[in-house]
Amino acid sequence: MKPEKENKSLKEQDLLEEKKEDVKEKKEDVKEKKEVVEEKEPKKKMLITDLPGVGPTSAEKLLSGGYNSLEAIAVASPMELVAVAGLGEGTAIKAIKAARDSLEMGFESAERILERRKTINKLSVGAKTLDELLGGGLESQSITEVYGKFASGKSQWCFQLSVMAQLPKEKGGLSGNVLYIDTENSFRPERISEIAKHRGLDPEKVLKNIYVARAYNSNHQMLLADKAAEIIKDKNIKLLIVDSLTGQFRSEFIGRGQLSDRQQKLNSHMRLLQKVSELYNIVVFVTNQVMSRPDILFGDPTDAIGGNVVKHASKTRIYLRKGSGSKRIAKLVDSPFLPDGEAVYNVTNNGVVD
Ligand SMILES: Nc1ncnc2c1ncn2[C@@H]1O[C@H](COP(=O)(O)OP(=O)(O)O)[C@@H](O)[C@H]1O
Ligand SMILES: [Mg+2]
Repeated sequence: MKPEKENKSLKEQDLLEEKKEDVKEKKEDVKEKKEVVEEKEPKKKMLITDLPGVGPTSAEKLLSGGYNSLEAIAVASPMELVAVAGLGEGTAIKAIKAARDSLEMGFESAERILERRKTINKLSVGAKTLDELLGGGLESQSITEVYGKFASGKSQWCFQLSVMAQLPKEKGGLSGNVLYIDTENSFRPERISEIAKHRGLDPEKVLKNIYVARAYNSNHQMLLADKAAEIIKDKNIKLLIVDSLTGQFRSEFIGRGQLSDRQQKLNSHMRLLQKVSELYNIVVFVTNQVMSRPDILFGDPTDAIGGNVVKHASKTRIYLRKGSGSKRIAKLVDSPFLPDGEAVYNVTNNGVVD
């Protein structure tokens, strides 16, 4: 292996350490040396294929499903591995346990978690009722999802947030730029101009700070998310939007037979988005379509697309409905720290407002 230039000094240190070890080892007797090697070897070189019951084929399926590290497997649920790699449930449980053991995963102090949560930024939606519902706004370091029927206002939220993100912190923004993955050709710069004007911003400047990419199919969409990382650093991106998350997947993978392929791809897409949100401390905002569930006879039969894959990956989920006139209703679903609730707001020429 060739040492990288950047790591040269580190590598040199390593070499030095190794030499020291060599000298030490020569002094020690052979038996002791063997023990040292045996103790260290398995922990260092553990691979996915070393997990009990995971052969090359399952490993490949795990990789393509986004479970590309022992960490990812260690935090997965057995049923996820069953679905993605076709493992038996017992094997999945054993593999997860082995991955956890190899990582020596333990407890993290609540204090450290709280410390990490302090670095989370909040993005105001721009309407008081909605910010209250959301505990102050959308959080960075996780995925927020809105879902609702056609014309329920999902894209309006995207336009609104594209403007809000550019406001300074004291006005509820993130003083940052926006990366916008448009999969349904529904990006409307005219709407953004109107909203920007209402917020006292120069529409031209606001549009310049939104980097839009049109995704032509699900593979392209995934590729764009992959490439996002480079742009996020270079362009001070604080908000990543995917409108819509599921549209392409839904139209490409039709029928029951393709469902597991679709879910596998969606899963790795979501995992990447989650990673990006944490790594760069940005807000990731995705929209999702709905379907009607024929098995629900009483109550609202509307259900979001993407099933558990999307449900688990989105930390905050908001269900949007139309009210009368410009009135809209947002319902908070499954928040880890806020009570479920509803807020009424309006969609007007000025965007999402009280
Ligand atoms: N300039 C506007 N003024 C008022 N309402 C608007 C305006 N533009 C769009 N809307 C409302 O938003 C709806 C479309 O919302 P949209 O975000 O495109 O829906 P979705 O993305 O959920 O399919 C329209 O039906 C209309 O009610
Ligand atoms: Mg839309």
